[in-house]
Amino acid sequence: MFKTKEKQEIESNQKIICGDCVNELKKLKNNSIALIVTDPPFNIGKKYGGYYKDNKKKEHYLEWCKEWLKECVRVLKEGGALYLFNYPENNAYLMPFLDSILTFKRWMTWHYPCNTGMSPTNFTRSQHSILFYIKGKKSMVFNKNLIAEPYRNPTDKRIKSLIANGSKGKTPYDVFQFNIVKNVNKEKTNHPCQLPEKLIEIFIKASSREGDLVLDPFAGSFTVPFVAKKHKRRTIGIELNPEFCRIGKERLSKITNLESFY
Ligand SMILES: C[S@@+](CC[C@H](N)C(=O)[O-])C[C@H]1O[C@@H](n2cnc3c(N)ncnc32)[C@H](O)[C@@H]1O
Repeated sequence: MFKTKEKQEIESNQKIICGDCVNELKKLKNNSIALIVTDPPFNIGKKYGGYYKDNKKKEHYLEWCKEWLKECVRVLKEGGALYLFNYPENNAYLMPFLDSILTFKRWMTWHYPCNTGMSPTNFTRSQHSILFYIKGKKSMVFNKNLIAEPYRNPTDKRIKSLIANGSKGKTPYDVFQFNIVKNVNKEKTNHPCQLPEKLIEIFIKASSREGDLVLDPFAGSFTVPFVAKKHKRRTIGIELNPEFCRIGKERLSKITNLESFY
């Protein structure tokens, strides 16, 4: 549908850029993005349709990550947020670099207790780490009330008073439990590692506002732009594989009934 490296805009508020994010990020303006949520290749030999080899030497992989992370930080607005998915053993190595250019907020975990235990000699993998950072010292936005969970003890005197003062519930814990998106799920596309929409929704709601610009430089099946569009954000998704860009275009075009809000 798209030729390699061809840029496509499906509408002015939802950009699909089909190309290498290391080059494409360089074309974006400084301080223009409110929120970045991204889930890069983890260097585990995953097959992404022949466009990217997911088995670099560890030091080359980490250098490559720092190259595009530096660009992510440049394009992020002051107070903007970055949510970075990876296996913990990769994110641990990226932290010192991120600590030197951003403000650390939280190490979070996506727990998916649905993998079948394959190895007789190791524990079964059931987590991704999600690093949450902001640019500068103060968050531009953290919409606690939009992601709040019901209080466990709503009849407690102190909780009653918080509710009376407008609190919608407690701020979620930093471990999120959602199953992996499998073929049986309605949201599943033909991408090998699609993230759950409900998980992404938490970060979009917490760290952006309607009309804000949200970026995912490794868009895959465009889960981040899809959820962000649903919540009336503007989006940029960058993806190397034209077939995944086609999936993204189709997915984004399913959201049609948003009133004008930009
Ligand atoms: C882990 S997947 C992202 C999945 C996505 N979060 C979703 O929910 O579908 C990583 C994606 O990065 C893409 N990719 C790899 N190298 C890239 C590059 N240099 N620039 C842009 N995309 C790249 C791969 O093709 C793959 O689709």
